Amino acid sequence: QIKAFLFDLDGVIVDTAIYHYQAWKRLANELGFDISEEFNERLKGVSRTESLDLILAHGGLTLPDEKKAELAAQKNEWYLELVSRMNSDDILPGVATFFSQVRKAGLQTALGSVSKNAPLILERIGMTQAFDAIIDGTKISKGKPDPEVFTKGADELEVNYNECVVFEDAVAGVEAGKRAGMFVVGLGSADVLIQADLVASSLESLTVAEVLAKLPN
Ligand code: BG6
Ligand code: MG
Repeated sequence: QIKAFLFDLDGVIVDTAIYHYQAWKRLANELGFDISEEFNERLKGVSRTESLDLILAHGGLTLPDEKKAELAAQKNEWYLELVSRMNSDDILPGVATFFSQVRKAGLQTALGSVSKNAPLILERIGMTQAFDAIIDGTKISKGKPDPEVFTKGADELEVNYNECVVFEDAVAGVEAGKRAGMFVVGLGSADVLIQADLVASSLESLTVAEVLAKLPN
């Protein structure tokens, strides 16, 4: 019996994944190298500090912690500039319809994002009230692919892990959901999100009834 749907934010509810990518790319470029879209798949769902570590390793750089803190802060400043103009028009197609179906089905909702900026983004797009529980980067100690962000969401909703469905666009996020013992819907390409139980291109191409019909009995 499914009781709750847990949603990632970046790339699922809003297309902030592109802004994270642009800000990291700008940082890499300033450091003298580049990151591709393909490399960026590895950064999705990964925390700010771990993303920076992956990027520096990619560019063959080793830097002291102080410098790394400075670079992470710089990236966040650029990211905040990019998201500062966001509003409800930036909610991805299909999200509003899908959420009204979720409510009609009597399911609970939680946000499961490792982003420390998640509450700010939810405010900007007017979706704070759409979630019964909000787990963001300030509430967890381990980023995806660790399952913590989703198990905490289930705990806050007081539902069992096998009563949850996770919606994710990131490889690390799909793994986190699977490790939490949840049914995972991947949003994106089936070639990339190979661990997902079900893949759709976005919430626009999916109904709640379709998801519930795919669940194991
Ligand atoms: C995730 C994004 O939601 O949040 C990652 O997919 C990002 O790309 C991570 O690095 C951390 O976000 P923030 O806003 O705390 O830097
Ligand atoms: Mg995401």
